[in-house]
Amino acid sequence: MTQDELKQAVARAAIGYVVDGEIIGVGTGSTANFFIDELARIKDRIKGTVASSEATAARLRGHGIPVLDLNDVESIAVYIDGADEIDGRGAMIKGGGAALTREKIVASVSQRFVCIADGSKLVETLGKFPLPVEVIPMARNAVFRALVALGGQPKVRVKPGTDEPFVTDNGGHLLDVAGLSITDPVALEARINQIVGVISVGLFAARGADVCLLGTAEGVKTLT
Ligand code: A5P
Repeated sequence: MTQDELKQAVARAAIGYVVDGEIIGVGTGSTANFFIDELARIKDRIKGTVASSEATAARLRGHGIPVLDLNDVESIAVYIDGADEIDGRGAMIKGGGAALTREKIVASVSQRFVCIADGSKLVETLGKFPLPVEVIPMARNAVFRALVALGGQPKVRVKPGTDEPFVTDNGGHLLDVAGLSITDPVALEARINQIVGVISVGLFAARGADVCLLGTAEGVKTLT
C-alpha cells in the first residue's frame, strides 16, 4: 500500500468516531484532507465543523460542509487530525503544515482527540521531526536564542522559494527545532510555552491523542 492509501484507510476508519448531530473539529494536512473527503459523504449527519486552518475551512466549504466560528461553539464532540510524530502514549509533534496553534486551540475544547496517521509516524521518542514553534514576528530571534539554550537547533521556516519568513494564518512566524530528543514531552511543552514571544509549540503532550488510528500494511491499528 502507498502512504496515501494508508492515510485514506485511517481517514475512512475515523468516520466511525464521528458523533451524529454534533460538531466535529477538523485538523490540517494531507491525512486530514482525506478525512474531509470522507466526511463529505455523511455531512447531513453532523451539526457542523470547526476548522483548524484556512485551508481546511476552504476544503470543508468546498464540500458544502458547514464551518462554524469557534466563538459560537461551546463544545466539540471529537477532534480528528493527523500528526508528524506520535509516541505510544499519545504525545505528538504537529505543525508540519503550519497550523499548530489553531489545531491546539480546537483540540483543547474537544472532548476526544482522534489522531489519524500512517504507520511511519509512530516513534519511540519524539524529536526526529523538527519541532515547530510559532512565534510573534518581533520575538523571532529572541525565541531562537532561547531554543538554542534549551539544546535545540532552530531554523526559521521560509516561504517556498524565498528567504522571507513563512507567515501563518495567525500572522506568526515559525521556528523548526531540530536536535531535540524529547524524553519528557509534557515538561518540554510547558518549558517552551513559558518563553516570552512563543504563540504555541507543536508538542501536544499535556493534551495528547485519546485514540490513534494507525495505517499499516496489515490494516488500521487502534492505539488507546
Ligand atoms: C498541520 O499543521 C500538522 O499538524 C499536520 O497534522 C501534520 O503535519 C500531519 O500532516 P500530514 O497528514 O500531511 O502528514
